[in-house]
Amino acid sequence: MKNSDINMRSIKDYTQSNRMAWNQIMPAHQKAARARLDEAFKNSSHSVIKSPEMDEWRKLDFKGKDIAHLCCNNGIELMSLKNMGAGHCVGFDICDLAIEEAQHRAMTSNNECQFVCTDVFDISEEYNSTFDIVYITIGALGWMPDINAFFKKVKDILKPTGAIFIYEIHPVTEMLPTDGDHEAHPLQIMEPYFKNEPYEDTAGLDYVGKTDEETSTRYWFVWKISDIMMAIIDQGFNISRFVEYSHDVSEMHSRNQEASKEAGIEIPMSYILVANGSAT
Ligand SMILES: C[S@@+](CC[C@H](N)C(=O)[O-])C[C@H]1O[C@@H](n2cnc3c(N)ncnc32)[C@H](O)[C@@H]1O
Repeated sequence: MKNSDINMRSIKDYTQSNRMAWNQIMPAHQKAARARLDEAFKNSSHSVIKSPEMDEWRKLDFKGKDIAHLCCNNGIELMSLKNMGAGHCVGFDICDLAIEEAQHRAMTSNNECQFVCTDVFDISEEYNSTFDIVYITIGALGWMPDINAFFKKVKDILKPTGAIFIYEIHPVTEMLPTDGDHEAHPLQIMEPYFKNEPYEDTAGLDYVGKTDEETSTRYWFVWKISDIMMAIIDQGFNISRFVEYSHDVSEMHSRNQEASKEAGIEIPMSYILVANGSAT
C-alpha cells in the first residue's frame, strides 16, 4: 500500500463521520430557513453576499468567470454569484440533504448553478483545469482533515491562471468560548492557537435554527493562518489579497465580538484571502 493510500483512508474516516453529522443537522437548518430562502431566490437578482465580501468580489472581475464553490452547503452563496453574472457555476458538498436543497432551489428559481454531492477529496477528474475561481466560505476549511491535500485538489480543478477566493472564520476565534458557553468570560482564552488534534463534537451545529439538536461525533480541525497560507503557497499560488476583519462570520462568536468592541480591544474574527495561479 502506498503512503498516499494510507493518508486518504484516514481522511475518509473523518469526512464520512462529518457527512453523517451534516445529514443529521440539515433538517433543523431547513426547518428554520429553507422556505424563506426558496421565496427570496424567486427574485432572479437576489444575493446573500454583502460588504465587505462583495467589495472584494468586485475587484476580481468575476462576471462571466467559471466558479467552483467547495463545501457549498445549500448553495445560496454560489447562486448569488450566478445571479450577479458569474459564468458556469458548480457547487460541491458532501452533505446529501444540502445538495438536494441546492439542486431543488436552483431548478425552481431558474438559476443555472449545478450542484454535485461529493467529498471534495473525491471530486471527479472531469473537473480538472476547468474553473477560473475556486470559492471557499465561512466554516469550510475546518472540516478538512488535511489542508495540503485540500489545496492540491483546489489546484487540480483550477485553470493554470485561476484564482482562489476565501472568506473564512479567523482561527483566533477558536481560542475563545462560543456563544453557548455562558460560564466563561467572552474574552477568556480557553484553547491553544497551536492545536494539533481535531475537536470532537456532538453539540452546537444548529447555528441556523439555534436548537440544541445533537449529531453523531464530528471532527473540526483548526488550521492556523500560516498553515493555510503555506498550503496555498506550496501549490504555487501567489497571495494577492489578505484582509482581516473584527466581525464574526461564524454565528457562534457574537459575544466575543461585542465584548472586544466594548473593551476597545478588537480581535481578528474573519478574513478574506485571494490567491492567483501562475501559468509557469
Ligand atoms: C458551514 S458549511 C459552509 C458553507 C457555507 N459557507 C454556509 O455557511 O452554509 C460547511 C459545509 O461543508 C461541507 N463539508 C464538510 N466536509 C466536506 C467534505 N469533505 N467535502 C465536501 N463538503 C464538505 C458540509 O457538508 C457543510 O455543508
